[in-house]
Amino acid sequence: MGKKDEILELIRNSHDQHVSGEDMAKNFGITRTAIWKIVNKLRRMGYNIRAEKRIGYRLTGVPDLLYPAEVQKNLETKILGRTVLYYPEINSTQMEAKKQVCHKNLPEGSLVVTEKQTDGVGRLGRRWESPRGGLWFSFVLRPKMMPEEVIKITLLVALAVARVIQKSFGIEVMIKWPNDVVVNGSGSIRKIGGILTEMGAELGFVNWVVVGVGINVNNNLPAQVKKTAVSIKKLLGKNVSRIKLLKGILKEIDAGYELLKRDGFQELLQELKRRSIVLGKRVEIRAPDEMITGQAIDLDRDGALIVRTDSKTRKIIAGEILKVNQL
Ligand code: BTN
Repeated sequence: MGKKDEILELIRNSHDQHVSGEDMAKNFGITRTAIWKIVNKLRRMGYNIRAEKRIGYRLTGVPDLLYPAEVQKNLETKILGRTVLYYPEINSTQMEAKKQVCHKNLPEGSLVVTEKQTDGVGRLGRRWESPRGGLWFSFVLRPKMMPEEVIKITLLVALAVARVIQKSFGIEVMIKWPNDVVVNGSGSIRKIGGILTEMGAELGFVNWVVVGVGINVNNNLPAQVKKTAVSIKKLLGKNVSRIKLLKGILKEIDAGYELLKRDGFQELLQELKRRSIVLGKRVEIRAPDEMITGQAIDLDRDGALIVRTDSKTRKIIAGEILKVNQL
């Protein structure tokens, strides 16, 4: 921890009490002016710190920004977020995480987080609008599984995001297989967030997985996605704490990952089925090399979508659902 973070923690932990600049200067072996400069730096970062003459400093407000010190404070995870790379703005957390996982061998659980992406990427190479106010992050996993099983990671992350949003805000959140986190209301399915899973693998062996999560939280939505996407702010009519949401989601993903490693996929699968917005519906799917239309009837034990077409039952392991219709 650097001096800045130590001073922040000291002021934070003394709650309503003032912390004297002189005492801090003595403790840290620096001058009162140096303390004052650090306090000003914290202020520029968005922390409200009141200074009372001869009494000291007191923390009166914390910004809703995703600084490592905020993310890691009381973070209830085993591996996720033990390393946090924070960027006020970046092209894409996904690109950065991939770059660093290849060149710097980032440890499992490393998190790359930003306030704003200038070149966010969605599935299938699409652009992902990521203005300030949303949650945009990527993290690294190194699961001991076969490449074809990695869909389980996408599904468990989608489930974690859905669960936490529902629990925190009382909104019913569903999953549109395999990676869309959606709400169903006002006659349409609208996307709150999406998961992008990429991996570095060899035949039969996964080296790394980078999972990117994008959630529309307090951000405004660009006009071109207003019909198909929605933000939490729009649904609730107010802003919510992104840092709290991020920490809740990290905790849930971490626990889901532990469960997957310990007990396998079956427990997660049951809830995925309950939260699926496609099971029982007629779907149109763009699979890698064909279009498939039929009734989505089940998720198999590995998370593949089972679709009954007019001629046979198909197992879909990758694809994009273009339409979901009631039967
Ligand atoms: C989708 O197409 O539904 C997946 C969207 C994933 C977006 C997230 S935002 C954080 C991370 N960085 C990116 O550039 N993309 C992912």
